[in-house]
Amino acid sequence: MNVNEFISQYKVVPVVVFNSMDEVRPKLSAMVKGGLPIAEITYRTACAGEAIKTAVEEFPEMLVGAGTVINKEQCEEALSYGAKFIVSPGFSDEVAKVCVERGVPYLGGCVTPTEVMKALSYGLKIIKFFPCSNYGGLSTMKALAAAFPAVKFLPTGGISDENLAEYLSWEKIFAVGGSWMMKGSPEEIADKCKKAVEIAKSAK
Ligand code: 3PG
Repeated sequence: MNVNEFISQYKVVPVVVFNSMDEVRPKLSAMVKGGLPIAEITYRTACAGEAIKTAVEEFPEMLVGAGTVINKEQCEEALSYGAKFIVSPGFSDEVAKVCVERGVPYLGGCVTPTEVMKALSYGLKIIKFFPCSNYGGLSTMKALAAAFPAVKFLPTGGISDENLAEYLSWEKIFAVGGSWMMKGSPEEIADKCKKAVEIAKSAK
């Protein structure tokens, strides 16, 4: 499976935080039920690695990646558990090196021209733009794109159903990330995933 093509089909990357292993199966099942089989499982909680392992083993229909990866140890652990892509809030040289070496997509956070240049120096042309709304949203990304026409963006931070279509209407948006669809009961998560997919499909 080609990771970038898979994400491009949906244009939405759910940012998933698991506070305990008990949440993993119900939430992932809800996402699949809602038609959004992508999970960026974040290293913000102690069970992230185990959650990635379980997701990869038990949800083969899902594209599972690791988020909030801030060092190479987390990156290597996530890859050993089968994560297919790696996301960081900022840009990490050590994480970039591991990913480039292994041919795994790395979406490192870049909000300044210097950071974008660093990502490009590794041959990485898709960058995470985080926290998007705080750093000026579309207007800042458009200014960066003027200097870096090859770059595509994964904005996250402050995105919801309300502004999803607006972001996706710009052709330089690779996909949007966020946690808005992960709140509430499994039924609510399934409904919010479905709604996000519908908005993304009609925005294309
Ligand atoms: C991330 O790491 O991408 C963000 O925490 C997601 O932001 P959100 O919670 O505002 O969607």
